[in-house]
Amino acid sequence: MKIVVIQGPNLNMLGIREQQVYGPMKLEQIHAQMKEVATQNGIDIEFFQSNLEGEIVDKIQECYGEAHGIIINAAAYTHTSIAIRDAIAAVSIPTIEVHISNIHRREEFRQKNLIAPVCASSIVGFGPFGYHLAMMGMLQIFNELKAAHEAQQNAQNQQKA
Ligand code: DQA
Repeated sequence: MKIVVIQGPNLNMLGIREQQVYGPMKLEQIHAQMKEVATQNGIDIEFFQSNLEGEIVDKIQECYGEAHGIIINAAAYTHTSIAIRDAIAAVSIPTIEVHISNIHRREEFRQKNLIAPVCASSIVGFGPFGYHLAMMGMLQIFNELKAAHEAQQNAQNQQKA
C-alpha cells in the first residue's frame, strides 16, 4: 500500500512562517515522523511539496493507479482551487485533508473550503499532530477496505462451493 503526501504553497516555510499560527516545526520533521509510522506499518510513503497549483494537479493525477491514499494540505489553494478539487475527484483515491491551524476560527476568506467535499475526512487545528492523525485515519481506511475486500471474496467463494 502506498500513501502520497501533498503539501501546498508556503508549507516549505514551516518553522519560519507565522510561528504563532503554525508553530516551530519544520516540514522535514513532520515528514520524518510520518515516515516512521509508515515504516512501522509496512506502508510506502512519498512526499511532495509545491507552490504551484498546476504541479499539485499533476501530482494528484500521477497518483492514479499508483497510490492507495492521499494526504493533502492544499494550504491557500484550499480556498480557491477548483482544479485541485476536480483532480481529487477525478482520481477517486481516499483523500484526507489536513490543516495545521483551525481554519474555521480564522479570517472570512478561509471559511470557503473547495477541497473538503471531495475528501474522506478533514483534520484541522491540531497543529503538526494533525498529520499523525491523518496517518492513523488512512491506516483505518486501508483496514476497512481490506475487510470489505475479504468479505466480498468469501461471499464469492461460498457461491462457488
Ligand atoms: C493552512 C491554512 C490555510 O488557510 C493557509 O493558507 C495555509 C495553511 C493550514 O495548514 O492551517 O497556508 O492550510
